[in-house]
Amino acid sequence: MSEIKTYEIITVPDPVLRQTAQAVSRVDDAIRKQMDRMLQTMYDAPGIGLAANQVNLLNRVLVMDLSRREEGSAAAPIFMANPEIIWESEEISVMEEGCLSIPKQLADVERPAEVRVKYLDYHGKEAELTAEGLLSHCVQHEIDHLNGVLFVDYLSRLKRNMLLKKAEKICKQQVL
Ligand code: NI
Repeated sequence: MSEIKTYEIITVPDPVLRQTAQAVSRVDDAIRKQMDRMLQTMYDAPGIGLAANQVNLLNRVLVMDLSRREEGSAAAPIFMANPEIIWESEEISVMEEGCLSIPKQLADVERPAEVRVKYLDYHGKEAELTAEGLLSHCVQHEIDHLNGVLFVDYLSRLKRNMLLKKAEKICKQQVL
């Protein structure tokens, strides 16, 4: 069991999910502590990505880990502050996405197949990541969160409203 304190995950229709997160001035111990807590929150959920808005914080921080975390497989966390997409492929990829803030809803989302992201790492050093496949979808999905964008925004209005309605119903039941 971990001793790291976790956050509560914010779900729709909380307005914080629609706000734009602000850049951090640097990655200091407070940000690293936030990253650790976000990672643990994501592992507990469980999920493969989590952005600051989803834990009610409005700074540009996200965490991801696509390793399967089976017994014996090492965790492979990726921490990003101030992530920025600096290149994207013309080629498009369609993949099923879900979101911890929109519980139990999945839908196919179209995105650039490959992206390059510039960011500050856990130690505050400038870094770049070129991502394709699931990691590409994940990092674009999480950066969207920092801009108040949800994956359902890429769907038709009909489908979006249907998924949000179902998710909100599930969230209400969990509170009761
Ligand atoms: Ni999400």
